[in-house]
Amino acid sequence: MSRVALVTGGSRGIGRAICMEMAERGNHVVVNYARRSDAAGEVVEAIQAMGGEALAVGADVSDADQVAEMFKQVNSSLGAVGILVNNAGITRDGLLARMRPDHFDQVIAVNLRSAYLCTRGALRGMLRARWGRVVCIGSVAGVSGNPGQANYAASKAGLIGFAKSVAREVGSRGITVNVVAPGFISTDMTASLGEAAAEATASGAALGRVGAPSEVAKVVGFLGSDDGSYVTGQVWQVDGGLAL
Ligand code: NAI
Repeated sequence: MSRVALVTGGSRGIGRAICMEMAERGNHVVVNYARRSDAAGEVVEAIQAMGGEALAVGADVSDADQVAEMFKQVNSSLGAVGILVNNAGITRDGLLARMRPDHFDQVIAVNLRSAYLCTRGALRGMLRARWGRVVCIGSVAGVSGNPGQANYAASKAGLIGFAKSVAREVGSRGITVNVVAPGFISTDMTASLGEAAAEATASGAALGRVGAPSEVAKVVGFLGSDDGSYVTGQVWQVDGGLAL
């Protein structure tokens, strides 16, 4: 069955891979982007080239007005969102003693507030349909913590509490809410950490390597489909056995 799948921050990295996975599963994909309309347009073209349907919609997902406008646009052009993937995320790393208040606030706004705004935006249609899938992209940092990432880990741990609470609120209406918590995945976000960080992580993972965006996307695709119908309020770590 074809459904509307909205992926926040879908123009690159893990979000892009999730967009492709959602399209392969036959869904109509909304590729949300913050600034890079060219990159989002390229994802739309790639989906259309494989015979799928996709739409790029710009919105800063930490901004309530822009999120409301995005849902208005999606509802009128493709219909109600059935699958929401809260993927957009940023880092502003630093040791706590030196962490700037604006860096703390930005990370919470983009990583956590966005999930509240977008999930609330999608929920009405899901409740009406008595079917819905919400997947939040967390992080192993939100489960185990990570030095230099107190703001980021707090935002990702917040997603877990958020998902579990909403899962309890809406479970009786056929809506599931889960968290996928990746380990170290090769994307722009981790490229800035350097080769040494990748090698150190790889050696600490049971599988002995870093992950690819598609390996996260496959799990999100499952949870975002009918196949994941009896899984809710869970945290699925996709980390190659990093945080065992
Ligand atoms: P990335 O930096 O390549 O992609 C992040 C995406 O979010 C970009 O498309 C960016 O434009 C978008 N974005 C940022 N702020 C936004 C905003 N205000 N509104 C709309 N979109 C916005 O990073 P990556 O690695 O693909 O990360 C995707 C998600 O996976 C993030 O939530 C990240 O925290 C999480 N994650 C990544 C890991 C990794 O190893 N790469 C590990 C654990 C979690």
